[in-house]
Amino acid sequence: MAEFRSVAVFGASGNSGDAIVPALLAAGLKVYVVKRTGSNSTFPPGAHVLSADYTSLSSLTYILQNIDAVVSLVGPQGFPHQTRMIDAAVAAGVKYFIPSEFGHDYTIPEVFPLVPVFSVKNTALEHLKIKQKEGLDWTVIITGLWFDWGLPLNMFDIDLKAHKAVIWDGGNATFRSINMQDIARAVTTLLVNPSARAGATNKHIHISSLETTQNEVLAAVEEVTGTKFEVENLDSDVFYREAEKKIAGGDQTAVVSLLTGIAVSKREYCAFGKKADAGNKLLLSNAPKESVKETVERVLSGGGPQAKWQRH
Ligand SMILES: NC(=O)c1ccc[n+]([C@@H]2O[C@H](COP(=O)([O-])OP(=O)(O)OC[C@H]3O[C@@H](n4cnc5c(N)ncnc54)[C@H](OP(=O)(O)O)[C@@H]3O)[C@@H](O)[C@H]2O)c1
Repeated sequence: MAEFRSVAVFGASGNSGDAIVPALLAAGLKVYVVKRTGSNSTFPPGAHVLSADYTSLSSLTYILQNIDAVVSLVGPQGFPHQTRMIDAAVAAGVKYFIPSEFGHDYTIPEVFPLVPVFSVKNTALEHLKIKQKEGLDWTVIITGLWFDWGLPLNMFDIDLKAHKAVIWDGGNATFRSINMQDIARAVTTLLVNPSARAGATNKHIHISSLETTQNEVLAAVEEVTGTKFEVENLDSDVFYREAEKKIAGGDQTAVVSLLTGIAVSKREYCAFGKKADAGNKLLLSNAPKESVKETVERVLSGGGPQAKWQRH
């Protein structure tokens, strides 16, 4: 596998870019951060800032000249542009593309229909599989929900501000979850370590920082805060019936809870087990270990990532 020296990062100014761009710079890569024409985004020193019209193949192809690899970190509104970014990467001779995924494993047939945005992400993936024949390799990184980023946003239905929790199906379902620095480590390893990349080329790779349950997270939060939380119990079968009706009717308000449920419900769609153990061995072998309680302590003392998004 070739050594990579340069990487272009689309959507580098967002939640994941805040962790990934500094890690790529620290690894010694030449990092080109790409923002949309007209965006006011700012970036860390050392990054080379480019802007492009995401609706123009020629604009995207122009900025990708002499770039080895592309990492797309665009948010949901940017997902439809990824097929054009892939075409531009092929036209410019880029060798490797990591698409904006970093979430649930929608290759699980029951997961795919739950959230409409999965099909938009999947369009880019199907396009990558076609373009693979033209010399563009890819890796999809599957993480489940982001733990240290999502905990303060109530993504695990444990509300740190209101001291209330919604516990799904008794709270003992097992799930894997990731901390932001481990996503940054994994992406960096893929780009700077050709032998690790060889094991991940044209594949889905699951990674995780921890395996836990909602009850374990709640117990850690209660211990660290010294506060007993008010608990409401939720039956996921009832929730899913209602959510499917809402989404079929065009009401998107259930989407964030569906993302939570994919992780914490008894269906255990994020119990990645052996798949994540293999991905961790490949991409996170040198990552420091942090227990659930240690992560909760770090998050509650302000040491977690700063989200650019709020749950309503
Ligand atoms: N598993 C989880 O818990 C979890 C949580 C959050 C995100 N994710 C996933 O991680 C990936 C990255 O998400 P993120 O939260 O880091 O992204 P984000 O912060 O939502 O957005 C990243 C960047 O995308 C660009 N952008 C915004 N609107 C755009 C548009 N209309 N067209 C093109 N680009 C646009 C902006 O950059 P510029 O203004 O600089 O152009 C923005 O800073 C996504 O695939 C997302 O689904 C997973």
